[in-house]
Amino acid sequence: MFAKLLITGGCGFIGTNFVRHVRRSRPHTHVVNVDVLSYSGNADNLADLRDDPRYTFVHADICDAERMRALMTGVHAVVHLAAESHVDRSILDTRPFIRTNVLGTQTLLDAAVAARVRRFVHVSTDEVYGSLSLDRPELRFHEDSPIRPNSPYAASKAASDMLVRAAHHTFGLDACITRCSNNFGPYQFPEKVIPLFVTNLLEGKQVPLYGDGLNVRDWIHVEDHCEAILAVLERGKAGAVYNIGADNERSNLELTRTLLHILGKGDEFIRHVEDRLGHDRRYAIDSSKIARELDWRATRSAWPDALFSTVNWYVKNTDWWRRIKSGAYREFHDKLYENRPVATPVRANA
Ligand code: NAD
Ligand code: TYD
Repeated sequence: MFAKLLITGGCGFIGTNFVRHVRRSRPHTHVVNVDVLSYSGNADNLADLRDDPRYTFVHADICDAERMRALMTGVHAVVHLAAESHVDRSILDTRPFIRTNVLGTQTLLDAAVAARVRRFVHVSTDEVYGSLSLDRPELRFHEDSPIRPNSPYAASKAASDMLVRAAHHTFGLDACITRCSNNFGPYQFPEKVIPLFVTNLLEGKQVPLYGDGLNVRDWIHVEDHCEAILAVLERGKAGAVYNIGADNERSNLELTRTLLHILGKGDEFIRHVEDRLGHDRRYAIDSSKIARELDWRATRSAWPDALFSTVNWYVKNTDWWRRIKSGAYREFHDKLYENRPVATPVRANA
């Protein structure tokens, strides 16, 4: 294990879970968490680690080359999670995505090369592969699938993947790329579908289901993702890409009905709204390479139990999401949903 690990974006959803995971499972590792605290970063998530001598929080922007160079001194490895991460926001304004996801990643790579960091793990997404068809259920993304990003978010992540590849090839940086499917679990910002729908239902509000609701996502519990990142950090092959998934494809309509069932609500809580622009139809991950090479398998994503315990976390932590939903996030939320046309409901048996 690496003695000093720099994690970027540690105050976001996956970052919070990953920082906790490392502190729990690698007690001798010193974690430095660099986060600018954008709208989705929340320093309170890790407030209980404040007095932990092996945890340091640094409030900084990954685009700040001078800060990144200084911070990288003495760091043995980097896990890079910081990003603009929400597809709908990337449709409203692409520029922050290019800045953080592309320029920010390059800034970190430059600093890591200069400091001779021993390993750099770039946390990417299955969305760089584009979309699969519902008619070919046998197809899944594998590491050699073509990179065909469709949303500005996915395009910015694909660009960052290429920069990581180039830093490995040209400057010899020991780098790995992970591409994971949709995560769920505690601390997810309530603009993503699961926490948005759960918290809306807890507030007695309807949930905005895009289009016909038949788009498919491949769901993995964030703890499984964290274990996979750690496996890649410690045992991954330099220059390799690893897909991460839990073989758990669900249509949005199925997901929504399961959430309604868990919370004792009926279909009248579904509001069918206009589809997302360029909405990818289906994601499905083949993660046999990481299973074969690094002996990693998802163990905590069993459906619907893992979803049930996630819903329970939001039920128990109402203060956490109520604070967020009453703040600046409201402005974005209102812009996206208030005037969104209502769509024709899908057939009951769809
Ligand atoms: P998130 O939006 O919850 O967290 C992102 C974090 O990055 C926040 O804490 C934010 O403050 C920080 N950040 C943003 N810009 C920054 C900057 N310029 N400098 C420093 N920090 C900055 O996102 P998440 O869902 O936790 O995703 C984390 C990573 O995992 C992203 O790279 C994302 O592309 C990838 N990923 C996410 C999923 C998913 O389902 N959530 C799936 C696969 C991959
Ligand atoms: P999201 O959580 O934004 O993740 P991603 O776009 O990265 O997959 O959305 C997951 C799915 O849920 C996606 O198919 C879009 C859909 N969705 C809705 O139907 N309504 C919503 O309000 C949101 C946010 C998403």
